Amino acid sequence: METQIEQLRVEALACIATASDAAALKGARIRFLGKTGAVSLLSEGMRNLPKEERPLMGKLLNELRTAVSVALQEKESTITMQADADALSSIDATLPGTAAEPGSLHPLTLLVDRAVQIFRRLGFAIAEGPDIETEWHCFDALNTPADHPARNDQDTFYFSDGRLLRTHTSSIQIRTMVHHAPPLRIIAPGAAYRRDEVDATHLAQFNQMEGLYVAPKVTLADLKGTIEFFFNELFGPDTEIRFRPHFFPFTEPSYEIDLRAEALGGKWMELAGCGMVHPSVFEAVNKKRSDAAYDPEKISGFAFGFGLDRLAMNLTGISDIRMLSENDIRFLARFST
Ligand code: DAH
Repeated sequence: METQIEQLRVEALACIATASDAAALKGARIRFLGKTGAVSLLSEGMRNLPKEERPLMGKLLNELRTAVSVALQEKESTITMQADADALSSIDATLPGTAAEPGSLHPLTLLVDRAVQIFRRLGFAIAEGPDIETEWHCFDALNTPADHPARNDQDTFYFSDGRLLRTHTSSIQIRTMVHHAPPLRIIAPGAAYRRDEVDATHLAQFNQMEGLYVAPKVTLADLKGTIEFFFNELFGPDTEIRFRPHFFPFTEPSYEIDLRAEALGGKWMELAGCGMVHPSVFEAVNKKRSDAAYDPEKISGFAFGFGLDRLAMNLTGISDIRMLSENDIRFLARFST
């Protein structure tokens, strides 16, 4: 049997050595190591051997099995390497490659970055809130109860559990005040949603930036100074702004902010809402916090909200708001810095 084992080893190694591709190698594996392969057949012959010879033959058979597997493995990697080299040889490495074009930031991202930088210099921190909001944060706490007509203008998408896609970033005012006692100075850029027909000036998902400043003795003069500073930094020192009286449930008095800047072609443009935080808003927050941290007798505050898409449109001179969300690379590349 010893000779048989030796013969098989020579035969197997020779067969493996001459296998020239993966299929031939597979054939060799089955022929020698398969369930009914040559090595297995030889192993079965062990049964007929005298007991004392079995250990030695067993050992030799194991060695044979190992030797054949190692040879198979080595040959396999040689064949794979050869196949790779063959594939590569058809590639012309001297041809110029396809350059990876550097991407650029979206115009809205660029705008938010600039706005955040300006407000940070005034000590404003960034606050966040969820896009999926409760009715309470989005409306009730902002002095807009269920039967308030202002809710009609802000119809949105409701979930079956009563939550909704926030119609404005003003909900972040509430979230921040519930969790942090005054004084407080935050801006909050984020998405807002309305059930609007999409057209050149409307998207069902758009972007706003909220601002809130609450402290003892905050006045309308602070609001005006802050807004003026912001727009002067954004559009240049010759920018004029005007506050036009308006109505928002959560501020009193309330204004819309119009702006005239050379950068915007010198026309008046409505860009934001703002006002002094309504005492009812503070009361709602106090109730939720179960303290009187926002006592309207001791503190006051201003709030504002910008439409970022509108601002970006004015800054970049584009006429259709949909371009901001279509992700057309040819359009976006114009704003790369
Ligand atoms: N949330 C308002 C809107 O989406 C904008 C706004 C107006 C925000 C006045 C404010 C504010 O913070 O004080 O139309």
